[in-house]
Formats: sequence, C-alpha cells, structure tokens
Amino acid sequence: MNYENKDLIFKEIPTGKTAWRSPSNIALVKYWGKTGVQIPSNPSVSFTLSKSHTDTTVHYAPSVHGNCGVEFYFDGLPNEAFAEKTRQFFSKLGNIFPFVNQLNFRIYSKNSFPHSAGIASSASGMSAIALALCDIENIHFMTFPDKDSFFKKASYVARLGSGSACRSLFGGIVEWGLTDEYPESSNYYGTPLNNKINSIFENYHDSILIVDSGEKKVSSTIGHGLMNSNPFSSTRFVQANKNIATLNNTLKNGDLNSFVKLVESEALTLHSMMMTSSPYYLLMKPGTVSIIEKIWEFRNDTSIPVCFTLDAGPNVHILYPHKYNTEVQDFIKINLLCFTADGYVINDVTGQGPEKLEAK
Ligand code: DP6
Repeated sequence: MNYENKDLIFKEIPTGKTAWRSPSNIALVKYWGKTGVQIPSNPSVSFTLSKSHTDTTVHYAPSVHGNCGVEFYFDGLPNEAFAEKTRQFFSKLGNIFPFVNQLNFRIYSKNSFPHSAGIASSASGMSAIALALCDIENIHFMTFPDKDSFFKKASYVARLGSGSACRSLFGGIVEWGLTDEYPESSNYYGTPLNNKINSIFENYHDSILIVDSGEKKVSSTIGHGLMNSNPFSSTRFVQANKNIATLNNTLKNGDLNSFVKLVESEALTLHSMMMTSSPYYLLMKPGTVSIIEKIWEFRNDTSIPVCFTLDAGPNVHILYPHKYNTEVQDFIKINLLCFTADGYVINDVTGQGPEKLEAK
C-alpha cells in the first residue's frame, strides 16, 4: 500500500478552509501492541460512536518560508501541545501530501466531550485532521475517483497519527488489521463491516461512565511499546486473532451471550497486559472495579445482556442493545452514578461515521 505522490504540489498556492466532524470509537477486540510504522500486532474491531466526536476546521494559506507552520486552537484557546503533536504528524506526511510543506495551517478544534475524559480523543482528533488533508487534496487536485477511495486514504493517514483513529473513518462496526476472517482487511486502513451484521447491533448503546477524568499516567503509545517485552504478548496476539474469528460469527448470528463474554474478556485482557508489563502499571480505579461487579450482579439478576468494556483508562463503557435502554438507564442512575466523577455519564450510541461541516 503506497500513497506517496510527488505530484501533489501547488503551482499557485491557494488559501482555503475545510471542516470535519469525526467520531470516537470503542474497540471490542483491542489493538494493543504494534510494529514498524503503525502496523498493529493483531487485528481489532470497534463500534463507531456518534455523540463523542471532534469538530475540526483547518484554515490553510501559503507559507512564506516554504515550510509548514501549524497554529492550533483548542476550545478557542491556543494550544501549543496539540500544535506540536500536529507538526509531528505532518512531518510524517511529506511524501503523501507534499503540499503540506507549502502551507501554513491554523486549526480550530473542539470535542463534544471534555479532553482527557478518558475517551479516545486522539481517534476523533486525528481522523478529523486526516479528513481535512484529504479534502484539500480533493478540492485542489481532484485525485479521488469516488467516496470510498477518499475515506480509505483518510483512514490510512489517520492511522499514522494514531492507530485507533483509522477505525473512526467509517460508520457502524469497523475492522483494522490483516486477518483471514475478512479478505478485504488491511494493516494500513480500517474496513467497515456493515454487511451481514445482525440487526441487534444497530443503535447499540455505549454509556460511558467517567470514573476519573484526570490525565493518564501512562500513554497508549508507551503501553503499546511495553508489549514488545511483555512475556504474555505472543499468547495475547494469538488470542486476539481467535477473538476476531469468534466475533465475526457473533456479529452475524447476534448471540449476545457470546458477545458479552468476548467483549469483557478483551477488556480485562487489555488491562492484564498493563499489569504484566515491565514496568507494570494499573489504570483501573476502585470505582472501575465496583462498576464491573455491579454490572455482573445486574446481569445475573435480570438476564439483560449488558456488558462492559474499557479503553486504556479507568472509565467504563457499558454496552447494551437499544431495546434495554430504559432498564439500563435506571440501573445506572440508581446503582452506578455514585462511582463516577460528579455523576458524569456520556450516553452514546453507534453512529454513521464522519461528516463534512460548513467551514467558518
Ligand atoms: C486501548 O490508537 O491511542 O484504545 O497508535 O499509539 O496512537 P497509538 O495508540 P492508540 O491505542 C488505542 C488502544 C486502545 C484499544 C483500541 O482502541 O483498539
């Protein structure tokens, strides 16, 4: 897979703007461990969310000095940390979008959820920037024959910014990483899995309970690196591949008992990889464990197929079919809010993927 294209250079350098809304996603089978240039050590599958998203407007103008400058405003305020992160991202893209070095960028970004609420802002943030760059290419070079090729390239580019971001480019359920289960799968971009998915997974709910909204002690990028020396990593990668196969069947047949078991096991395995890394670390908080125990109790008592998953953080994603919304909302209010930071819950649901906004 090669998106290098030295012809994407402006003769007359334009000024313009483009704006995109891109969603976050929550992995069911987790990406944890990578090699080479953002190549995942195992395939992963996620639900694309709808209410948790990033809105990004990119203004571009000729660069006077002939190199790329980036200013970044987050929630209306200059943010040098995000500017630097974006500069580093752009520095990897010189062969894919050579025009990047002819432009200065002023980027305005805001999340629908608080930054560092522990929900993956890098996925929505990086995918929104990738979309903006592909859109600049589309507007000025008209290189995309169709929508599919546009989003595939955006996914490829987003992956270089943050691995999980490549799954945010499509709606519904998205797979990333080479596997025999899906002939169209790739290590370089995400693939939407929306054929033959059981209707029980439409509008699947994800209520995100924010247990702790503080900055993580260990970043995901460092966590991935620690998998290189984790004594259990090779077993984990084999297990993830098996889980992809099991999940493939489950997504077709709608067997929620199998879904619940697989998703919870994936979440706990992810965190067990953190606990068995060297140095070891723990991202769960007491509230995380209390919520998990309450979910197990509730599922036992009611037989409602609600389950949890975790990202690389302490917050709990509660996953359940649309038809149990009322029961699960009551359960959260009565039994779980006491374990959250100030009663903070984001009631999200699976979504349709990114959308272009009117650039202001
Ligand atoms: C636990 O995509 O944040 O959320 O590629 O280093 O940016 P980088 O890592 P990142 O890792 C996310 C890991 C995860 C699981 C997942 O989303 O699959």
